[in-house]
Amino acid sequence: MDKFKDLKTRFEDFIASDLPKIAPRELYEPYNYIVNLEAKRVRPVMLLASKLCFDQLNKDDYYAALAIELFHNFSLMHDDIMDKSDTRRGLPTVHKKYGENSAILSGDALLILSYKLLEKIKNKDHFVQVYSLYNKTAMEICIGQQLDMNFEIDFQVSEPEYLMMIEHKTAVLLAASMKIGAILADSSERNQMEFYQFGLNIGMAFQIQDDLLDTFGDSASVGKKIGGDICNNKKTLLYIHALQNAHKTHKELLLQWSQTKEYNDLKVKEITQIFKDSGAKGYVIRKRDHYYKLAIEHIQKTSISSSDKDFLISFAQKAVDRIK
Ligand code: IPE
Ligand code: IPE
Ligand code: MG
Ligand code: MG
Ligand code: MG
Repeated sequence: MDKFKDLKTRFEDFIASDLPKIAPRELYEPYNYIVNLEAKRVRPVMLLASKLCFDQLNKDDYYAALAIELFHNFSLMHDDIMDKSDTRRGLPTVHKKYGENSAILSGDALLILSYKLLEKIKNKDHFVQVYSLYNKTAMEICIGQQLDMNFEIDFQVSEPEYLMMIEHKTAVLLAASMKIGAILADSSERNQMEFYQFGLNIGMAFQIQDDLLDTFGDSASVGKKIGGDICNNKKTLLYIHALQNAHKTHKELLLQWSQTKEYNDLKVKEITQIFKDSGAKGYVIRKRDHYYKLAIEHIQKTSISSSDKDFLISFAQKAVDRIK
């Protein structure tokens, strides 16, 4: 078994042993449902891989890794309500299966469970550092999610604004996962900083790829309905670039479609074609690869062994390519 799969398996065994069922059933069933669906576990594996570059794993590492994964799952439960998404991980989203109120409250319970896991970190010096980074990151994600929603009705979103939004909603959690691993290993400030930057740039590439797959992916492997971003008028880089660079009739068509928000096959088909014809798709792929390269530069600046560097780089490639 490769090192990545081994870490994922060890982490998933830990989930099974450490996810409490807080009664009543209506509270725990929805969060158990989402957490136990087949998922990539990118963030906890990053955290554990990061720690392993310096030291062996102990229970504190698993508590922190599970806290991060639970936070991520909580954010997905609420995100799917906000994005009106019906499918996640190949199955109905929590609010589709259990109703919106359950998805809100069970999501809240999951967030609190993630804090309770952090409480279990035995080394109090580590706890203080992890807790502070965790809270900073959680607030940044709220900011990113709100910007994402604001941008749905804003037609003047620029590329730097988009990049700032995805850095907040997505990249900071991968960055924090990497840094927490280094904190738990008592690694140097320099390594912590480079690990954070590595995670941040991988996170940027990861969200850009997520946006590409939302339009150009295959629903069976992505596990989500294709075209959701287009129908929600999300200001992805595909959209921003197309609006700036498409020829006049296509620009008009983009703006015309922005009047509707319901799922519409024709809208998805026409806008997907505009993304291709305007060169937006190629541009966005280059942007994704640019962030992947930046990430590698940061890992090269750390003091870890070259085999650990190779592992992190190949893991990052798999994460961005969504190889399970
Ligand atoms: C989905 O995250 C939300 C984004 C930030 C793109 P993942 O793509 O990591 O989803 P799972 O956890 O593997 O289902
Ligand atoms: C989600 O971004 C980011 C967070 C949940 C914080 P998306 O809305 O693009 O994620 P998906 O596509 O629904 O997984
Ligand atoms: Mg969203
Ligand atoms: Mg979404
Ligand atoms: Mg998405």
